[in-house]
Amino acid sequence: MTTDPKVVWHQASVSSQQRAEKLGQRGCVIWFTGLSGSGKSTIANAVDQLLVARGAHSYLLDGDNIRHGLCATPQMLSPIHGEAFAHRFGLGFSSEDREENIRRVGAVTQLLASAGLICLTAFVSPYRRDRDRVRNWVTKQDQSQESTPFFEVFVNTSLEVCMQRDPKGLYQQALAGKIPNFTGISDPYEAPLAPELELQGGTATPIELAEQVLKMLQKHGIVSGP
Ligand code: ADX
Repeated sequence: MTTDPKVVWHQASVSSQQRAEKLGQRGCVIWFTGLSGSGKSTIANAVDQLLVARGAHSYLLDGDNIRHGLCATPQMLSPIHGEAFAHRFGLGFSSEDREENIRRVGAVTQLLASAGLICLTAFVSPYRRDRDRVRNWVTKQDQSQESTPFFEVFVNTSLEVCMQRDPKGLYQQALAGKIPNFTGISDPYEAPLAPELELQGGTATPIELAEQVLKMLQKHGIVSGP
């Protein structure tokens, strides 16, 4: 991101390293991406549970929940803030709105990770460029300190399986033309080219898949061995 001379960075007095030492862990970002219904939220929740059970400090940002607050839709904002505001700041599912959704969430993950947390996210995040920008933002944020680890986890569940599951009935509505720009139906999904981990969704239980994530974290020294 380019700088603006009117906005000057103020160096924090407490470093990320100091926070990490206090918590006994290194903050990082685990970014789940995949189609709606691929199992991102379920697996991310299972990882969150496994981490908390081991005494780690983690926090999950889930797409559906974040769209109730930080990235609320225009419909949600208009009763309180009015039409013009809702139109300007509310987020839907156009490529530009998704870009802003992922940008906001990416900035939050960087903050949580620098506070020392293991930050998990579950967003469709269908565009490679948006995910790569978050990776850059998180890993290059503070030149004076060690880079924050970023793990992209691709939940690779076929569109057929996601459509069969259709937990919210959204695929059915999208196929009937009632939801425009629906990822996988009328909008693209760009699979990661080099994710840190690829999970074959639908081939194992969410707990088994979550354990694969935990193994990856052990391999990278984020959590200690079994
Ligand atoms: S993202 O593309 O901007 O990353 P996000 O993860 O926040 O999407 O929200 C996706 C969730 O919103 C899906 O799980 C689904 O429940 C719902 N949703 C509603 N409309 C759409 C749509 N057009 N495309 C994809 N998901 C949608």
